[in-house]
Amino acid sequence: MRTIEWRDGTVVTIDQTRLPRETVFLEMRNCREVAEAIKTMKIRGAPLLGAAAAFALALAAYHSKAEKKKELISELESAAEVLKGTRPTAVNLFWAIDRILDKTRGFSGNTRDLVALVVEEAQKIADEDATANRLMGRHGAELIHDGDVVLTHCNAGALATVDYGTALGVIRTAWEQKKNIKVVATETRPKLQGARLTVYELRRDGIPVTLITDNMVGYVMYKRWISKVIVGADRIVRDAVINKVGTYTIAVLAKEHSIPFYVAAPKSTFDLAHASTDVTIEERRREEVTHIGSQRITPEGVNVLNPAFDVTPLEYVTAIICEDGVLHREDFVKFKANT
Ligand code: MRU
Repeated sequence: MRTIEWRDGTVVTIDQTRLPRETVFLEMRNCREVAEAIKTMKIRGAPLLGAAAAFALALAAYHSKAEKKKELISELESAAEVLKGTRPTAVNLFWAIDRILDKTRGFSGNTRDLVALVVEEAQKIADEDATANRLMGRHGAELIHDGDVVLTHCNAGALATVDYGTALGVIRTAWEQKKNIKVVATETRPKLQGARLTVYELRRDGIPVTLITDNMVGYVMYKRWISKVIVGADRIVRDAVINKVGTYTIAVLAKEHSIPFYVAAPKSTFDLAHASTDVTIEERRREEVTHIGSQRITPEGVNVLNPAFDVTPLEYVTAIICEDGVLHREDFVKFKANT
């Protein structure tokens, strides 16, 4: 099964907060349920957020009682506002919502056809993501060689996308090509996407993986145990890659140790009209830091910072892998100029 699927007026996905202990499927029938699942990170990962937001609009359209087209469009606009208020950083969410709203505005058919159009467009967004991941896998695997030990951060796998994954998609393709590789996954405090989700995905595929805590990255690089880094992205702006907090630290360490640092992300993650200073970095609840599960680990009342993402300037990025190919820094400069 894909990570998210449309089944005749229901959106089905896996509750990622329950993995790896149990596989629980969520069946959502309205936009509010999807918005809540996004906020609570039952659904997470930039490309998956895009597909989920698109399907949430499809739910709003499919179950609408509106008779007039104008009424339906206004309902979709309200649903879009709710969805846009869930998480601010991954651009895919905004991109998918705006793509669907743009389609509805120029539409000249009747209300029923408009519902069909919204559902179809959401499905297209999901299908395109699955295809982009396979393409990125093929392009990116050319950078991975026998004997490589690849470090990845957070979860940029099938669970973060509609299918297959971005950074893990590249690793998967290299593995399917029978390259002899190993993966080092960082645990990714505070939400532990690496320890819970990346390790789960890689072990399911039989890809050798070693888990480290986030503060071990310097040591494993110093020991020359890592030959490449590959991560995903939540937003690629003109001057930087924005991804899970901790990515910047890894990139600086990689540069210091002359280790290539690759970012795999579909073009739906590109936001080249903006710079890093324009982006809102999500701040999450303090309890995510003061607690592990339901267990408090700190003295009460401690000051806490909890940004969910950080900013890695492009000078630390060796290349960006997208569905069009591998964009080394100079290619990315040209790509930006043509966008
Ligand atoms: O807070 P999350 O789990 O939604 O953050 C996810 C990440 O930072 C991923 O690295 C990113 O979305 C790329 S996923 C293909």
